[in-house]
Amino acid sequence: MAPTTPPSPVRRRVGIDRPNGLGVFGANMARPFHRWYPFVEGYSADLVERALIEQTADGTVLDPFGGSGTTALAAAMLGRDSVFAEVNPYMAWVADVKVNQSRRVAAEGTTDELRALADELSGNLPPADENHPLLVADRRRGYFPPGVGEQAVSIHAVIEKVLSGGAREVARLALGSSLVPASNMVRRTDLRKRVASDPAPNSLIATVAERLRNFGQDIDGSARAIKGSVKQIAGDVRDTWTEDPRVSVVVTSPPYLNGTNYCRNTKLELLALGFIASERELMNLRVSMISAGINNVSKRRSQPKIIDCVESVAQQLDQVAYDMRIPTLVRTYFSDMSDALAQVRRYAVDGARMYFDIGDSRYCSIHVPTHTILRQIAEAEGWRFLDEEVLRTRRSYDGSQLTQVLMHFEAV
Ligand SMILES: C[S@@+](CC[C@H](N)C(=O)[O-])C[C@H]1O[C@@H](n2cnc3c(N)ncnc32)[C@H](O)[C@@H]1O
Repeated sequence: MAPTTPPSPVRRRVGIDRPNGLGVFGANMARPFHRWYPFVEGYSADLVERALIEQTADGTVLDPFGGSGTTALAAAMLGRDSVFAEVNPYMAWVADVKVNQSRRVAAEGTTDELRALADELSGNLPPADENHPLLVADRRRGYFPPGVGEQAVSIHAVIEKVLSGGAREVARLALGSSLVPASNMVRRTDLRKRVASDPAPNSLIATVAERLRNFGQDIDGSARAIKGSVKQIAGDVRDTWTEDPRVSVVVTSPPYLNGTNYCRNTKLELLALGFIASERELMNLRVSMISAGINNVSKRRSQPKIIDCVESVAQQLDQVAYDMRIPTLVRTYFSDMSDALAQVRRYAVDGARMYFDIGDSRYCSIHVPTHTILRQIAEAEGWRFLDEEVLRTRRSYDGSQLTQVLMHFEAV
C-alpha cells in the first residue's frame, strides 16, 4: 500500500471563511482578457492575485491544471512569468491566446484588423466545406440550429484567409467562445441540449462580431498591463515536462471528483478549430485526464494504486454502490492525483508554496472528503499542510452540504 501519514490538524484562517466569489469564475467576466472565454469551472483572478501578492519569492509560477489560464493571466498582470500543464489542447491554446497572443497583437498593431473583420462578417460568407469535422458531427447530433454550423466553418475559413499572426489567433478565439452560445447546447459544466427553460441560441455572426470588437478594445486599453508570459510545459501533468522550471508558487484547481469531462465539454470548439478531427479522438484525450467522472473509468487505464486513506471510503462504496465503476473511480481519482502531486513536488523548490482549490463530493449517500484525503496524499508527497479556508458551500444532489476550500501547503 502507498504510505500516507495521518492528517495534520486543520488550521482555518480566521475571519475570511467565505471570501465572496474567490472560488468561482464570475468576477472574471468584468475583467479584460479574462472575459474572453467564460469558464464555469474556473476560479477568480482575485484568488490568484492574493496568493501571488502573499508569495513574492523568485522563481516560476505553476498551474499544473491550467484550464482557461486564470493563473497565467493574473500572474502575467503582476509581471510574473508562469508555466502550466493542461491536457485539453483547446484550453491550453485559450491560455496562450489570452496572455501571449493578446500582447503580440498589441505589438503588431493589428487591432484594426479585428474590427474590420467584425464589419465584414455581416456580408456574404463563402460556402462551407461540407466535409469539415464540425459539420460531420453536426449532421449526426444536431449541435446547431440549421445553417449555423456552416456559418462557423465559413467564418473560420475567412479568419484563416484574411488574418495572420496574433490577430488570427485572437479572432479564432472570438469564434471559439461564440460557438456554444449560438448552438443548441448549453454548458452547465457538461455540455447538454437546450431545454425550453434555457435561453434561445444567439446569432453566431453577431456574437463573433461583438467579441472581435471587445477583444480589440481590451488589447487597446489594457495589453500593456500584461507584463509576463506563459508557456505550456506538459499536456498530462504526470508526463515528462518539456522544461525544468524552478517552481516557487503553485496556484491551481484540479478536476473535482464530480463527473465533469473537461474535454467532452469543449467538443464544439475542439472540432471547429481543428484540434481534433472527429469526436472519436475525444477518447484519446480522456485517457490522459485525471479520472474525475464515471465515464473516465476505462479498461485502457492501469490499475489504481491502493492508498490507505482512500480505502476507508472506497470500501464503503464497494458495499453500497449501484455501479461498481464508482469505487473504481474514487480509487483511480486519488491514485491519479497522488501521481500529479508527486510530479509537481519534483519541480518545486524547497519552501515553495501551493494554493490548492478543491471541493468534496458525495456518491451513493457516502461523503467523500476529497480535501481531507488529498491533504494526506499531498503530505505523503512532500507538501506540508499550512492552513485552509472555506471558499464556498454548495449542496449535493441529496441536499447535504459540500464545501469548496483553498488549501495552502509548503514544499518540504
Ligand atoms: C478545474 S479546471 C482548472 C480551471 C482553472 N483554474 C481556470 O480558472 O481556468 C481543471 C483543468 O484540469 C485539466 N486536466 C485534467 N486532467 C489533467 C491532467 N492529467 N494534466 C493536466 N491537466 C489536466 C482539465 O482539462 C481542466 O481544464
